[in-house]
Amino acid sequence: MDPSDFGKPPTHLAIIMDGNGRWAQQRMLKRIVGHQRGAETVKMVVEQASLLGIKYLTLFAFSSENWSRPVLEVRALMTLLKKYIRQETARMMRKNIRYNVIGNRSELPDDVNETLDGAIRETSGNTGMVLTLALSYGGRQEISMAAKRLTGDVLNGRLALDDITMEVFGSYLDTGGLPDPDFLIRTSGEMRISNFLLWQLAYTELYFTDINWPDFTINEFHKALNDFQSRERRFGKTSDQLNKRNSP
Ligand code: IPE
Ligand code: IPE
Ligand code: MG
Repeated sequence: MDPSDFGKPPTHLAIIMDGNGRWAQQRMLKRIVGHQRGAETVKMVVEQASLLGIKYLTLFAFSSENWSRPVLEVRALMTLLKKYIRQETARMMRKNIRYNVIGNRSELPDDVNETLDGAIRETSGNTGMVLTLALSYGGRQEISMAAKRLTGDVLNGRLALDDITMEVFGSYLDTGGLPDPDFLIRTSGEMRISNFLLWQLAYTELYFTDINWPDFTINEFHKALNDFQSRERRFGKTSDQLNKRNSP
């Protein structure tokens, strides 16, 4: 689809990529096969998002809670992640995309962190879309860590108590520097946030589809983005206020 066929795309799109395991199990395949197929969907979405002019794409790839999965699945996911980053970095360079990671990186295996560091370094000069991977990420963990760092700065005198505002607090989050998501897509029919971007999703438009992530096609992606166009974002105001530009 031509980018001009769309209205204004979301500036920041966040996605909870869910349903890989069920996709595989419905086909009598191992769950990891679902994750491998899911990685193909990631490639399509990254390419499309960058083509359509989305400036920030944030993908929930592994949650703090996912560490509770069977050891073999966790290990397979880490291996897949490493392979994905290694294979895709050249394409990210061609498409001018910059990698970013949020989450508790100290919990990730060393080899994964090395691969991530390499990809972040290599793509750091790119000026196109920012692709943020949420890895070992949990919203509550992020908020409590931010509170801890902010308190440290108050105690050591770098920050005055009276200077704490929503903006200042937000800058202590892993996403400091990123705008809040405009649009969130979750696949696989689950209608929950699962500890993703709790602070940042305050006014995000939400979109849920029953389709499992490996089956999320380019057409489904466009359908979701079209749906975003029809949303009226009121931010507490009335519809009349938004439509009458000069109304008080
Ligand atoms: C999403 O798919 C990928 C990760 C959470 C890593 P799932 O693995 O959660 O798939 P389902 O929800 O079990 O089908
Ligand atoms: C959320 O999916 C995390 C990711 C997509 C990485 P889960 O499948 O882990 O979520 P819950 O536990 O079913 O809510
Ligand atoms: Mg799931």
